[in-house]
Amino acid sequence: METTAQQAGGYVGRSILRSDADAKLRGRAQYVDDLKIPGLWHGFVVRSPVAHGKLRGLRQDPAFDWSRVTVVTAADIPGENLVDMFVKDMPYIAHDEVQYIGEPVALVAAPTLQLAQAAAACIHPDIDPLPALLTTAEMVARYKAADPAQPLHKLAGQSIRKGDLAAGLAAADHVIEREFWTGYQEQLYLEPQGLVAHPQADGGLLIEGSLQCPYFVAPELVSTLKLPVEKIRVRQSAVGGAFGGKEDYPTFLAGYVALLALKSRHPVKIVYDRHEDILYTPKRHPSWTRFRVGLKKDGTITAIQVEYLLDGGGYATLSPIVLNRGVLHCANGYRCANVLVEGFAFRTHTVPSGAFRGFGAPQAIWGLESMIDLAAEWCGQTPEQYRLQQCIRLGDTTPTGQLLKDSVGSPAVLEQALAHSAYAEKFRRCSHGDPAARTWYGIGLAFFPHGSGFTGNGEGLFRGRGALELVRGPAGAPQVVVRVSSTEMGQGAHTVMEQIAADALSAPIAAVTCPFPDTSLVPNSGPTVASRTTMVVGHVVHLCGADMKGKLEEFAGTHIFGGRAARLERGEFRAAGEPPRAFAEVAAAWLDRRGPLRVEHAFDLPPNLKWNQQTFEGDSYPAYSWGCNVAEVEIDTLTMQLRVTRVTGVFDIGRVVNPLMAVGQLQGGLLQAVGYAVMEKIGIKDGRYDASRLQTYIIPTILDAPDFDIHFVEYPYDYAAPGAKGVGEIPLDGLAPAIGNAVYQATGWRFNEIPITPEMLLARLRQGPGGR
Ligand code: MOS
Repeated sequence: METTAQQAGGYVGRSILRSDADAKLRGRAQYVDDLKIPGLWHGFVVRSPVAHGKLRGLRQDPAFDWSRVTVVTAADIPGENLVDMFVKDMPYIAHDEVQYIGEPVALVAAPTLQLAQAAAACIHPDIDPLPALLTTAEMVARYKAADPAQPLHKLAGQSIRKGDLAAGLAAADHVIEREFWTGYQEQLYLEPQGLVAHPQADGGLLIEGSLQCPYFVAPELVSTLKLPVEKIRVRQSAVGGAFGGKEDYPTFLAGYVALLALKSRHPVKIVYDRHEDILYTPKRHPSWTRFRVGLKKDGTITAIQVEYLLDGGGYATLSPIVLNRGVLHCANGYRCANVLVEGFAFRTHTVPSGAFRGFGAPQAIWGLESMIDLAAEWCGQTPEQYRLQQCIRLGDTTPTGQLLKDSVGSPAVLEQALAHSAYAEKFRRCSHGDPAARTWYGIGLAFFPHGSGFTGNGEGLFRGRGALELVRGPAGAPQVVVRVSSTEMGQGAHTVMEQIAADALSAPIAAVTCPFPDTSLVPNSGPTVASRTTMVVGHVVHLCGADMKGKLEEFAGTHIFGGRAARLERGEFRAAGEPPRAFAEVAAAWLDRRGPLRVEHAFDLPPNLKWNQQTFEGDSYPAYSWGCNVAEVEIDTLTMQLRVTRVTGVFDIGRVVNPLMAVGQLQGGLLQAVGYAVMEKIGIKDGRYDASRLQTYIIPTILDAPDFDIHFVEYPYDYAAPGAKGVGEIPLDGLAPAIGNAVYQATGWRFNEIPITPEMLLARLRQGPGGR
């Protein structure tokens, strides 16, 4: 690892030490629960014990001394009782029907958490139960039955059509049809959800805490609180992991603390314990997919048909957006002229499902990459030969008709993953359920693109903004402050912004800082989601850096170098025939003469992109990252214990801004994918999640970590300086099917469901040989 470079310049591409490392290692980082707040009260949520029902009212125990606490019910909400998201279907506090166990029916705040909890226990919702739909399996059964008397409540729907599906299927020599299932996955950030709301003297609110998207909160709350948007200020505190789980939920939690703070006139904090966090906050959507793939004997894919269903839980929340990314990743990656993808998210009476790294793509790719192995087998080819023959590449078009014309790391990631893993040689050693072996070995492969940035023309419509400010720092020295709403949640985004700003400006990185965002200080760069931050916000920061550089050069030419043209290079201003001047000296002269300097820019999409938001035709993402994962597994034939022993990952994430942090992102995400594939299981029992602690929701530890071998092939995205694409989500996309494909080569058993647990392997063993 490198520390701060002596000479300015060339920061992008180097493993600069994370700027948040010191505070975190020394325990100085301030997480929301560390904040010392005078007069703080504690909030607690009263929840529905019924999955679906008519809320008749609330009974408050007369024996309790209610004067010591503040209670908020739906009747106390100043404005509209509605979370103002994409679909306006969810109240902050239930007032009519409840849609899931755990839905808030009232809120309590008190000077101590114990008192708030005691009061909450004395509030009893009176609910008439209604029929409830509780599991993904029931949801799929109803979808298949299509009985008008048993309708499903559609939360979202989106299709993709390319070519003529019927003709494609008719032209096939063989059609493979399979169904696939995935379960919930809990983000399990180490720091649970937590926010505090401070009432302000002007009647407004300051909300601070653990969140990914500072600018989501106020617009989604204004109609509920009846406050103008500028009176809701949002500030990020240190975040101990998020992984998508702090995209939507903090907006709901912000509503709870805001309502309690406004009524009690105290600052109010809610920090969940692990139990509440697992039981009542969103997880990755469970899914069911049905694939039909038409094949010619030579391997040509004549048709891909996918039905893609997500279990959305009780309300729509992010389901429409997750569904969009999901359908776009169902059939991408392979050449095929005739595609139909039909996606739906339906309501079940459970906690609303939400965002988790990958955002619908892992569910899609689990099915697709299993199907590609099945197709290879039917054609008599190895998984590797078949993928090399059929994978989409430069000059091909995607299922939405997008022509891949630049920055395409396919088939490079595939070729290099095969080489680095010695795939072909190891493939010949797979056990195929050999009855004589004590340990079964298998190797499996998956190949996948992941769209960077908002879907379609989202980035063009949104125009995310960012700013750079030249100011006097705390010690009086000139400092360049990166003003973006992107959050640092452990992934390294703020260090990346500092690298990009320092390079664009040619300033020493020590002079650049990217603080936690505060909506009173930063423009809206958008949420920290969708594998967009380095590519989109990084580009904006680069534009700001280049702009500020030009302004400082002009100033230096005029005021320092007596009218000679000046250039800022590697941290020094130079003009012909003059000794160079340090960045700090010229910046200080600017500040003395002109005061603080601020430049702001916005992101625009390249003008030639086309997108139809209704039909989902056109350029569905500005750029794609590409990945190939090779998984190796060993299965103990006595215990059916499965170990993922080695994972080779080759990724094209464009220009790698900070290689060490990128490898960290990929290793962390790939380990989460190991959990998704073989361990992490949470079901619904009597309408509730059947696990609520680390003892019962098993995630991989360092002891379960495979040996990682990670490589990059860089196909920069030239439109966005410095050429980066997304890295945040792609590690979750393809490892589960690579592991499933490895399990098949080890055992001869193809599973259509993850996680593939030892119990499932044992059950399959007891069924005896054969199967597939
Ligand atoms: Mo993300 S899963 O787009 O927060």
